[in-house]
Parts: sequence; C-alpha cells; structure tokens
Amino acid sequence: MKLRSSEWFERKGKDGFIYRAWMKNQGIPADMFKNKPVIGICNTWSELTPCNAHFRDLAESVKRGVIEAGGFPLEFPVMSLGETLMKPTTMLFRNLASMDVEESIRANPLDGVILLCGCDKTTPSLVMGACSVDIPTMVVSGGPMLTGKFNGKDIGTSDLWRFSEDARKGLLSEEEMNLAEAGMCRSSGHCAVMGTASSMASMVEALGLSLPGNAAIPAVDAHRKVLAQLSGRRIVEMVLDDVKLSDILKREAFENAIRVNAAIGGSTNFAIHLMAIAGRIGVELDLEDFDILSRDVPLVANLQPSGQYFMEDLYYAGGIPVVMDAIKKYLHLDVLTVNGKTLGENIENRKSLNNAVVSTADEPFNTLSGIVILKGNLCEKGAVLKPSAASIKLMQHTGKAVVFEDIEDYRKRIDDPHLEVDESSVLVLKNVGPKGYPGMPEVGNMGIPKKLLDQGVTDMVRISDGRMSGTGFGTVVLHVSPEAAAGGTLALVAEGDLISLDVAARRLELLVEEEELSKRRDSMKLAVNTFDRGYTKLYVDHVEQAHLGADFDFLRGGSGSKVSRDSH
Ligand code: FES
Repeated sequence: MKLRSSEWFERKGKDGFIYRAWMKNQGIPADMFKNKPVIGICNTWSELTPCNAHFRDLAESVKRGVIEAGGFPLEFPVMSLGETLMKPTTMLFRNLASMDVEESIRANPLDGVILLCGCDKTTPSLVMGACSVDIPTMVVSGGPMLTGKFNGKDIGTSDLWRFSEDARKGLLSEEEMNLAEAGMCRSSGHCAVMGTASSMASMVEALGLSLPGNAAIPAVDAHRKVLAQLSGRRIVEMVLDDVKLSDILKREAFENAIRVNAAIGGSTNFAIHLMAIAGRIGVELDLEDFDILSRDVPLVANLQPSGQYFMEDLYYAGGIPVVMDAIKKYLHLDVLTVNGKTLGENIENRKSLNNAVVSTADEPFNTLSGIVILKGNLCEKGAVLKPSAASIKLMQHTGKAVVFEDIEDYRKRIDDPHLEVDESSVLVLKNVGPKGYPGMPEVGNMGIPKKLLDQGVTDMVRISDGRMSGTGFGTVVLHVSPEAAAGGTLALVAEGDLISLDVAARRLELLVEEEELSKRRDSMKLAVNTFDRGYTKLYVDHVEQAHLGADFDFLRGGSGSKVSRDSH
C-alpha cells in the first residue's frame, strides 16, 4: 500500500534528500525510511502538567511496540494543559491545543498516531484535533495515581472539597491540612477518583479508541507500559488495514460512551467534551441524548465522587471492561474497536472481581446515574446536573435567588455574615460561561456560605453558566445555556427571585412574569468583547455555547489529512 509518509520519505531528488537527511541527524538508519508506517506519538508531557509528567517513559514503551511491528515511531510535543497550575482555566485553551494537534498531525509525514493523554483537557483536545484529520489513531492514557492516604484513610481529589470546608469551619488545623497535602498525590498519574481525567480515559475506552483496560491501570503499574507497548504494535496494523478514526467513531460508539459514563458516575464535563468530539467527526448528537440514553442505566461502579472507592480499586476489580459487562444489555456490542475486535468480543468472559466496587445492573449502588439535562426559561438550550452527586431532598426545590454577578462578587460576599441567605436559598453565579469568564472555569460548585456551614448545612441548590470539577459534588446546576454574557435569561435573575428546580420533570424555571422579564431584557447591557488582541479575542469571538460543546464555530468538522500546498 502507498503510505501517506511516502509523499515525504520516498521522494527522489532534492526534496527527498531534505526530508531524510535532516532526520538522520538523530541517528536514524536509512532503512527506517523505506516503506515503514510512520507513527506519531503525540505527547502532552510537561513538568507543568504533573498528571502527565511520566509520559516520556510511556512514549518509550509505545516506540518499542511500533518498532517491533515494523513501524517507524516519531514522538512530538503538543500543547499540554495542566489542570492545577494553568490560569485562568485550562478550558480556555482546550480548543487552542486541539488546533495544535490537528495541524501538527496533518503537516507532518505521519501514517498513524498514538495520543498520550492524561490530565482532564489533554484527552478531549487531542481527540478533537485528531478527528479533524482522521488518520488511524489510538489513545494511550497515562493512568490514575495510587490512592492517597491521610490519617489512616484512603483519600482522593474529592476529599479536597471536604477538607477545605472543614478548614473553613475550623475542624482541620493547618498542620493536618499539610499532612493531607503530603498524602494526596503519592505517585505519577492523574486524579485517583472518577473525576474528569478518569471519565475521559473511560470515555475513550468506551468509544473503542483504546485497548481494553486502558482507563483504570494505575500510572505506576507495569501493565500500563505493557498496554503502551501493545498499542504501539497495534497502531502499525491499523495503518496497514487503513482503520481510521471515522471507522470507529460511529453514532453507536457515542451512545456506548454516554451509557458507560452513566454507569461509572462520570464527570459532567464529559457532556461538553463528547459534544465537541462529535462535532469534529460529524456524528449527530444532541445534549438531550445524554439524558435519554443514560436515564435507565444504573450506577454500577462505586467510585468517588458518587461513591466510595478509587480508580486503583476499579483496576483490581477488572476495570472498565467489567463495568461494560455489567451494563452490556444497554450497549451496542457489535461496534468495532481499535484492536480490530468488537466491543462484545473485548468484554467476553470479563466479570467483576469485587462486587463492592463494580456490582451488577440488577443490584446497582444507585438507580440515579448519568447526566440530567434540564430545560426551562432559565436554560432554554439546556443545563446539566449530576443526580448521583446531588442531594435527594433538593431534587425538587423552590427557593429565593442569592445572586452573584461574577466570580469576584461571589468571593467578596459569600462569607459575609450579613449575606441574606438561608439553606433554602438558591445560589446563582453569572458570567462564568464560555464567553463571560471567558473560558468557563470550574467554579459552579460554589462553597456554602460560612454562616450556613457553621449551622451544619452541607448542600444547597447552586446554578451557574460555569462548569464543576469532575471531582466535585452537590446539587449543582451547570452549563446553563445560553450563558449570561450571551444574553441568556440567567443574566436577568435578580436578588430574591423565586427559582424552581424539578429534576424529575427536567425543569429549571425562573418564576418571574414574562412582562417583568422583558422589561429587564430591554434594559440589559450585553457584554462586549473587551479583548482586543491575541488568543482570548479569537476565543470570545468564536466559542460556541456549552450545549454545543464550546468548540470554535470554525473548527466543526474536519479538513482530512491532505496537505493543501506542497512547498518543496
Ligand atoms: Fe490532572 Fe486532576 S489535576 S487529573
């Protein structure tokens, strides 16, 4: 077969000379350029992305596999998005990183690519970029950290929210906080709970983009390297068989991913990223599909933040393959996956090894699962809520709005002893959406006002156009669309307005007469893009609303793998 890379490396004359000769300065023998599938290893390694800091080692395992299968591996860096350090929020840069990935793959002599993904946004940005090129592609995730330890107990990122509330209440001393900090991150890898990074790793496994077992193997377990090496071998075969991303990413694969995310209590961020990926590969997906498809799927994985255990425990219980076995009656089993087998074949004879961690569909941990999509006059295009992380008693609730106009307003007033708030109030945070912040940060699970914390209040209804960390929890309505900064009704909410949330009916309503709302709408000043240069200007001008995946309007779809002009 004629390889895409042969347009570079098989060339005669001056051009071929240039393509090969400069590569040879890395000590590459001449036979590596002769009709061998060139496999790009798209690496998000960075010391500024601690969750991905072990990726150079992982890339070596992939390379070994590629060479064993007769391929030619070439590792290249792309923008890496580290959740813990980057400001103002990594979501601002997800689309930028996806552009880097897309153009790096297309512009170079690559026949196939392995995406090394870990921390939250590194997975969707790489998959989105690769979809817009559509050559044979596999994902190797970096794997979760070992479970954290503090005071003889297992801890993970979700405990951070509890520690922080305890410290505000004076129940945890600074010294104890230091001990918790020292015990939280004990090894390489990403967050050890079913937060966004684990949800993304599970998503690619459920989509069929990784070898079975990819999501749960801890970063430091030797099997992670074995999986990387086997992936290196397999991607060479995929190139020879010409299995592209679009051969795997059919509508049925997306439906499987939505159902698996429900069964594991995955992150609400899953919705926004999967919508963006669907937009790139051209699969029709609607926000309401997340609700419709996951409504009957029970929560079978008992993992934090919806449950009790950690990713390491999921690995010992059998990983995502046994979760898929537990809910197989809800899945399309005949879809193709990257190892050339169907999903059904991949999970054959895989049974949970620990029913306390992965149970059965008949005896689930919670019948509430998935992502609920709310509609109503407060979120005409939709909003999301994760019922397994919410309080049952607040699922149907009407309360008076306590309004914060932006994140600075919230920070200034939330702990003010004079704040007029009680436990039945509904906290509303505006202008933290894609355009409003800009970048849609994870601030939607606002902390409980200190004076209510002191009274023992642990949850309240909270509503915003922002996102929530996948490790967060509470009765939190997120991704309100259209956002306040785009003229959504959220912008019109005033202090003391009544808001009604009815999760069973999928409704979120602002109980204010239409006449009054239209008066407020007439006097509303729409935010203008105050960024006059650089990437942030591009972002605010082109980012779509949350219900569409917050991708750029001009990035939808793909441009294939053809290079538009040949300059040599
Ligand atoms: Fe990277 Fe949580 S901070 S996965």
